[in-house]
This record gives sequence, C-alpha cells and structure tokens, in this order.
Amino acid sequence: MSDQSPKTTHFGFTDIPESEKAGRVRGVFGSVASKYDVMNDAMSFGIHRIWKDAMMDWLAPRPGSKLLDVAGGTGDVSFRFLKRAGSGHATVLDLTEPMLIAGRQRAEADAMADQLDWVVGDAMALPFKDNSFDVYTISFGIRNVTRPQEALNEAYRVLRPGGRLMVLEFSQIPNDMMQKVYDLYSFNIIPKMGKLIANDADSYQYLVESIRKFPDQDTFLSMVRAAGFENAKYRNLSMGIACLHSGWKI
Ligand SMILES: C[S@@+](CC[C@H](N)C(=O)[O-])C[C@H]1O[C@@H](n2cnc3c(N)ncnc32)[C@H](O)[C@@H]1O
Repeated sequence: MSDQSPKTTHFGFTDIPESEKAGRVRGVFGSVASKYDVMNDAMSFGIHRIWKDAMMDWLAPRPGSKLLDVAGGTGDVSFRFLKRAGSGHATVLDLTEPMLIAGRQRAEADAMADQLDWVVGDAMALPFKDNSFDVYTISFGIRNVTRPQEALNEAYRVLRPGGRLMVLEFSQIPNDMMQKVYDLYSFNIIPKMGKLIANDADSYQYLVESIRKFPDQDTFLSMVRAAGFENAKYRNLSMGIACLHSGWKI
C-alpha cells in the first residue's frame, strides 16, 4: 500500500506540508519587502555588502555576459554584476513580486534599466530554455526554496556549457563557541530588530531559524555536484557565517 500522507518540509523550526512552503515564504518576503534593504544593513552591520562583493571577486563578471539572478529580490547581486562586467544583461527572478517592485524603485535599477529584466517565478521551475545563461547566481535565496536540489538541477539546465553557478548562503560555523555567540545574537536580537524596523518579528524569526536548518558546507557541496556541476568548491566567509559555493557546467 502506498503512503498517502503529504510530504513535509521545514519552515524554520516548524514542519509543514511541502505544498504550503512557497506561499509561506512569499508571505514573509511580501511583508518585509519595503524594509528589506534597510533591515539587511542593520542586522548584518553592512557585512552582507562585503559578502556580495566577495561573490563578485570570485565570479569576476566578464563584459557582455548574461546573468540569471534567482531569488534576486531587490537586485543587489544583479546591480553589482552589471557594474563589474561593464556591459551585459541581468534577469532578476523572484517568487515574491513586492521584492522585485522594491528593486525596480532603486536608483540603480533606473540607471541600468536597459540591461535588466524582472521576472516573477520559482527557482524550481524556471521559465527559460535550456542553455540560456552564462552565469547563475542565487544569494540568500536557496535556503527558502522548498526543494533546493531541484533548484540546483534547474540552474544546471538553464546554464550554457561553460556556464558558472555561484551560491551565496548562510552556513554553519565550525566552532561551537562562536556558534553559541552567533545564536545568542541571531535568536535574541534579529527578531527584535525586525519588529522595530519592519514591524514584523515573526518573519525575522523564520529567517534565523531557516539558517540553522540549512545544510552545512560539505553537504551542500555534494548537492551542487549531484546537479552535475564540475570543479565545485566553496569558500567560507566570516568564519562560516556565510559561504560561497561555485560550480561549472562543463
Ligand atoms: C533573503 S532574500 C535575498 C534577496 C537577494 N538575493 C539578496 O541577496 O539580497 C530571499 C529571496 O528569495 C526569494 N525566494 C524564496 N523562494 C524562492 C523560490 N522558490 N524561487 C524564487 N525566489 C524565491 C524570496 O522571495 C526573497 O526575495
């Protein structure tokens, strides 16, 4: 007899049916969209900018290249990519339309309007043909995706041969003492900041819980390889608070 019970997944520390996760995630980011950029600076003391710059340093965008920035939100990674490349095109895809709307209102979006597309869509079912992009990025997005392996498989499909994957995500700190200090900060302070700045403690409670549920560096590396990427590697940032994973479609 087959098991008829619905598949479950985690939403932060809560188990929910898989079918509900995308809607709940859309609720979180729809609620915080207009304050997302301010909150990012506040809760990371601006360090997310250094991590995104490190992502660009490793990626070394080439002039004329075509980027797909999945879970691209308010466009931070795409803007950086286009500035570094000097020329090229970026498609910012996100599940949550209010995040894209907030991105389009930024001054950079205006200045680079001809080089940008903004698309509502799901990382697990990209509305693009095979072999369409030179570079695929996903920054602080993949831990929110219901089935991250499917997102990586899709990344592989839409990249052209020779194309590059780069994932920036929170990760696990390989030091118990530091992890305790970090947990104290993230579980006690970040939801309070969320309440103060975005009037939404629950969304930021979810965000910190989702970080703890995300696979560690080596487990995620094996998922990147399972999607077909070669020469896959990672680099820890700020002692593993965040991590960059890179892979190539050969
Ligand atoms: C923390 S924000 C990151 C935004 C931006 N990439 C950055 O680094 O600042 C996470 C984004 O992932 C998007 N997201 C979550 N699940 C997604 C999915 N399945 N497909 C596409 N986007 C998704 C959310 O809507 C949200 O905008």
